[in-house]
Amino acid sequence: MDFETRVMHSGIQEDATTGAINVPIYQTSTYHQQTLGGDAQYEYTRGENPSRFAVESVIAALEQGQAGFAFSSGMAAIHATMGLLQSGDHIVMANDVYGGTFRLVEKILKPLGITATMVDMADINIVSQAIEPATKMLYLESPSNPLLHVFDIKALSQLAHQHQLMMVVDNTFASPYNQTPITIGADIVIHSGTKYLGGHGDLLAGFVVVNSQKLADRIKFIQMSTGAVLSPQDSYLMQRSIKTLAVRMAKHNQNALELVAYLEQEVKVGRIYFPGLIDTADYEIAKTQMHGFGGMISIELQSGLDTKRFVEQLKIFKLAESLGGVESLIEVPAVMTHASIPRAIRIENGITDELIRISVGIESSQDLIRDMQQAFAGI
Ligand SMILES: Cc1ncc(COP(=O)(O)O)c(C=O)c1O
Repeated sequence: MDFETRVMHSGIQEDATTGAINVPIYQTSTYHQQTLGGDAQYEYTRGENPSRFAVESVIAALEQGQAGFAFSSGMAAIHATMGLLQSGDHIVMANDVYGGTFRLVEKILKPLGITATMVDMADINIVSQAIEPATKMLYLESPSNPLLHVFDIKALSQLAHQHQLMMVVDNTFASPYNQTPITIGADIVIHSGTKYLGGHGDLLAGFVVVNSQKLADRIKFIQMSTGAVLSPQDSYLMQRSIKTLAVRMAKHNQNALELVAYLEQEVKVGRIYFPGLIDTADYEIAKTQMHGFGGMISIELQSGLDTKRFVEQLKIFKLAESLGGVESLIEVPAVMTHASIPRAIRIENGITDELIRISVGIESSQDLIRDMQQAFAGI
């Protein structure tokens, strides 16, 4: 079946008891157990809930994994994945990741004795050299946030497995419509479901999808023990949102291509970061592992131009954190999503104070271009 069909028909998509074509919101914290000490399938919602199980089965199917787990946010999903590690373990992580992921590593994991080396994953030799005897995990985002770099998931997975490391890919920016990392070697896929999967800027969610029963058992145990599960209401909303993922992503992909074509000839733009830019290293990898380039673009204006004034003058693009929703958003990572990374490290990794990150929505591409034109005219 094609992806457009699978978003609506794979996993659990209807109610087994009534045949309702939408899985109901099982708004319950607990379940009546018929016998004391029996092995009831449902005991307590932190462990089991049919609304959550349904959306978990859908994301597992879309990512082609063994099992999926739904969390209350992307950060909760990442934190649960890091629960696979112990004090003394080491991570090799891409140096271009969401600021919150960096903060989790620096401020929560480090004090617990779990360390990380942040490297440029574009160079496999650098990645290889960063692997230590204590390394247990290789972790990256592709495309990355906010520089939209694309890393060779297949080659990096092979390297990880040569060293018995878990290969973890945060697939938030691509969504399973554009890329399925497990099919090219990843062991674990993470999502901030808040973004393309939710798609409407109205819910916070996270997912972990794994490629083996062993990892599924471990993540399930961590999910149930730490408790940051997706609520029944939000599970329902997420499942409803995923049904339109294919049509939304097709439009995000198309709008971004059209906007980039405009930005390429806009004289006030200094630099563009986008996986679909022909003749870049990112493009060469993207065309082998992605079906579309996604709706995220980052730019820098020509030097001397006023970034603040530009982003404030836009009317359709709203100045806001987050991404992947139907509405177009714009932000400045240095001040907003990546402010938790110390400036020196940010600059070293290429995230300048002037970098602008654009989440292209599904409005008319012509209106989006006109909005940019009027904002450029005003600086
Ligand atoms: C790539 C990526 N991963 C994870 C997260 C964290 O997700 P959440 O905000 O749902 O906790 C974000 C948030 O922006 C993100 O961009």
